[in-house]
Amino acid sequence: MTTWSDQAIIYQIYPKSFQDSNGDGVGDLNGIRLRIPYLKALGVTAVWLNPIFTSPQVDNGYDVANYYAVDPQMGTMADLEALVAALHAAGLRVILDFVMNHTSDQHPWFQDAIHSADSLYRDYYIFAGQNNRRPNNWGSFFGGSVWAEDPAGSGQSYFHLFDRRMPDLNWANPEVRHAMQDVADFWLAKGIDGLRLDAFIHIAKAPLEQDWPTAAGDDEPVIAEPFFANRPQVQDWLQPFCQHIKADYPDALLLGEAASASVDLAAAYTAKSSQLMDSVVTFRYFTDRPVSNPQLPAAYQPREMDWLAFKRVQATWQQTLVAPPTLYWSNHDMARLATRVAHDPIQARSLAMLMYLQRGIPIIYYGEELGMQNLQLPDPAAFADATVTAFVAQVEAAGGTTEEALAWVNRTHKLPARGPMPWGDAGIAGAEAADADGAAAAIGATAQSTAPVAAGFTTGTPWLTGRAAAGATAAEQDQDPTSLLFFYHDLIALKKQPLFATGNYQLLSTADTIYAYRRTLADRQALVAVNLSAAPAVLQLPLAGMARQLTAGVVTRHGDTLKLGPHAGVVLTTR
Ligand code: NOJ
Repeated sequence: MTTWSDQAIIYQIYPKSFQDSNGDGVGDLNGIRLRIPYLKALGVTAVWLNPIFTSPQVDNGYDVANYYAVDPQMGTMADLEALVAALHAAGLRVILDFVMNHTSDQHPWFQDAIHSADSLYRDYYIFAGQNNRRPNNWGSFFGGSVWAEDPAGSGQSYFHLFDRRMPDLNWANPEVRHAMQDVADFWLAKGIDGLRLDAFIHIAKAPLEQDWPTAAGDDEPVIAEPFFANRPQVQDWLQPFCQHIKADYPDALLLGEAASASVDLAAAYTAKSSQLMDSVVTFRYFTDRPVSNPQLPAAYQPREMDWLAFKRVQATWQQTLVAPPTLYWSNHDMARLATRVAHDPIQARSLAMLMYLQRGIPIIYYGEELGMQNLQLPDPAAFADATVTAFVAQVEAAGGTTEEALAWVNRTHKLPARGPMPWGDAGIAGAEAADADGAAAAIGATAQSTAPVAAGFTTGTPWLTGRAAAGATAAEQDQDPTSLLFFYHDLIALKKQPLFATGNYQLLSTADTIYAYRRTLADRQALVAVNLSAAPAVLQLPLAGMARQLTAGVVTRHGDTLKLGPHAGVVLTTR
């Protein structure tokens, strides 16, 4: 039985950067509501919102201080209800980010936990050690140790896999599991259609009294994933959680973020018999080639894609998962597609075609359909990230310049990928027509009066400032039938055909510079062929009876021969 989610086409909205409706420089829920006509025209069927709950914004909302309230910068609970109602009225589903591995240190549970070692909430978190000594050498994803001293001075430390202001919850405690189930129930009862389970693979930790093996004398913290990723208890604890949700909301989409899961684990997390997730997002899709300058530190150096590895990974995920794989090029945790890989407009089209017409659920990161690039942040301090500061210092120490290091970080870091949506004035008229309470007037007033980066996004100063690369705005592309935005409209329409939504996938044997696959459904067939290189490429395949549906770049066909120009791509189907 297929559900809406098997065939969903998801648009990922980073709410802070999508549309500001009140001029404070931060995108908000009313802003998203005013842009529903844009989403409808694009043709997506669901939106995923990055976190919108009350948060000190240490990690842009992934540090939740109250799971039951909307962050005031985003709006109110009434705004959220209005947004969900308006999305549903427009036929769009809504998926919220569910931050389950950790809270903010400002969450009342944590505040109580550090109040005294006898707190009833102490065991909601992971406290260990004594005399302020780290219980082990495990490293945090955000740099440094996973351990921070108990601010109350007990001599114990608490565990944080991410920022020190984001203490990990203790899922071994049944009360925590119940509390998080209550949170999920609350939001599903509000009518949302799915949850993206943030960092779920990390909820179980190994016994703490063990160090990751290191060379003698090396006491630097180490990312010790086997001790805190994909441990067996993750499935034990999440099965009742997911079963409970599905009992009441069988159609709810449970989309897990499984950053470091192998394809086999992803298959286990999504197998029907496991009764866990419907689909997972992996971070293992993209393999990089070696750095171009081995004399300088590697951390934030831009790298080319390894296309052969990419083809192998895609084919593996396509063949192995029974559940629909997620299909994406970018998200808020990585550099944008147009900055990272698609350096010319033809490639932006052919890569989108290649990815989203495979079997699975597309997740399109806001602005990708416009060819949006990373912002250029003005200086290393703007990243507020210790790993950036360390990288710049290392580059300088190795003889590189600050400018060189900054340019690299701007091309590779996640923060510049979160810039304001370049609306121009697109969608404002539609938004005004759709809006009953006058909030759209605030948007309309902004269009001409702001700097280019913020045009149409805010009347104020955007929360994230930086230089935006030149590129056509949504307004301009909306008037241009040759634009990338129009291409995405066509691509999404094609993806909705049953052949692409549910057909089988088969990789075709080609030169390593071409990625080509066939989709089949009953007596219909499609061929998707993309030239991954800047040199022309030729492909011989039986093409009789096939008609062209979508083209990127220059593609010519003579009999059963397809000639693909640089980075070109084509989709052909039988009638
Ligand atoms: C994964 C999210 O995508 C990322 O942005 C966040 O920093 C971590 N989880 C922690 O919540």
